[in-house]
Amino acid sequence: MNLSVQLAPKHKSGLLLANPVMTAAGTFGYGTEYSHLFDIQKLGAIVCKGTTLEPRDGNPQPRLAETASGLLNSIGLQNIGVKALIKEKAPIWANWRVPVIVNIAGERIDDYAQLARELDGIAGISGIEVNISCPNIKAGGAEFGASPESAARVTAAVKSATSLPVLVKLTPNTDDIVKVAVAVAEAGADAISLINTVKGMAIDITTRRPLLGNKTGGLSGPAIKPIALAMVYEVAGAVELPVIGCGGITTGSDAIEFIMAGASAIQVGTASFANPRAPLDVLEGIEQFMQKEGVNNLTELIGAARR
Ligand SMILES: Cc1cc2nc3c(=O)[nH]c(=O)nc-3n(C[C@H](O)[C@H](O)[C@H](O)COP(=O)(O)O)c2cc1C
Repeated sequence: MNLSVQLAPKHKSGLLLANPVMTAAGTFGYGTEYSHLFDIQKLGAIVCKGTTLEPRDGNPQPRLAETASGLLNSIGLQNIGVKALIKEKAPIWANWRVPVIVNIAGERIDDYAQLARELDGIAGISGIEVNISCPNIKAGGAEFGASPESAARVTAAVKSATSLPVLVKLTPNTDDIVKVAVAVAEAGADAISLINTVKGMAIDITTRRPLLGNKTGGLSGPAIKPIALAMVYEVAGAVELPVIGCGGITTGSDAIEFIMAGASAIQVGTASFANPRAPLDVLEGIEQFMQKEGVNNLTELIGAARR
C-alpha cells in the first residue's frame, strides 16, 4: 500500500511524508518526550511545540481544564525559544527518519520573518508551520489569523524569509475561514493546516471564578471534530493546496473522515494525552481501513466525499 503524501507540491524540494499522520503542535513536545513510548519514526511528520524568538513561561496556572467532551488549554506558548531549539533539538532531529516541522508564533509580523530566517538551512528541520491561530497569547497569534489581510501578510513575510516549505495553520475563531485560507494560498503558502482550538471557558462554581488562570482558553478533542471536519471540507473545496486536517482525531476512522473531506494529511493532538500511542494507532487504523476496502493508494481516498 502506498500511504505517501506530498505536502508541498509547488515547493522546489517538496515535503514528502511516508504517510499522512502528523502530530499536532503543542501536544507532542519536541518528539523526544515520546520516543521511548513507541517508534515515532513510523509517523508521517512531527510538528513540535510552538516556538517564539525568546523563551516563554506561558500563562498563569491552571492552564488545563477537562470538559465533558474536550480539553480546554491556555498554555500561552510556553517554550524554550528558537535559539535553544536550534542548539539542543535540531541536532537530535537531524538523525531521525521522520521529518520535523517547527511551529512558530510571534507578536509582530517581523517576529515570524525572523523566526523563519533563523530556522532556514538548519539540519533536522524540514518545514515551518506558521501559527496564526493561538487563542492564548495577548498580542499576535490568532489576531493574525482572524483576517485574510493580516494572514496573507504573515504568510508572505515568512515565505520570503525562508527556503523551507511553509504550512500556515488557521484558526476557527474567525468570520470566514475560507476567505482566510484563500488569502494565505494567494500569499504563497505551500500547505494549510486547520484547525487550531476553538475559544472556550469553564467556571468553578464553588470559587465563582474562571477555571483557567487566563480566564478563557482553547477547546480541543472530540468535541471540535465536526467543526474541524466542516471547515476542512470547505477549505479543501476553495484552495488548490494540500490541506492538513486537525481537530479531535482519535482513531483511524476519524482520520479517514478528514481525508475523505479533502485533507491530504492529518494531525493528532489531544488524543495523545489520553493515549500516547494515539498517532501510531491512527496510522494503523488507516492501514486497516485501506486493506479492508482494497485501497492501494491513499490518494484514492483524498476528497472522496467531495466527488
Ligand atoms: C495543550 C495544547 C497546546 C497546544 N499548543 C499549540 C501550539 O503551540 N501551536 C499550535 O499551532 N497549536 C497548538 N495547539 C493546538 C493543537 O495543535 C490542535 O490544533 C488542536 O488541539 C486541535 O486538535 P486536537 O483536537 O486533535 O487536539 C495546542 C493544543 C493543546 C491541547
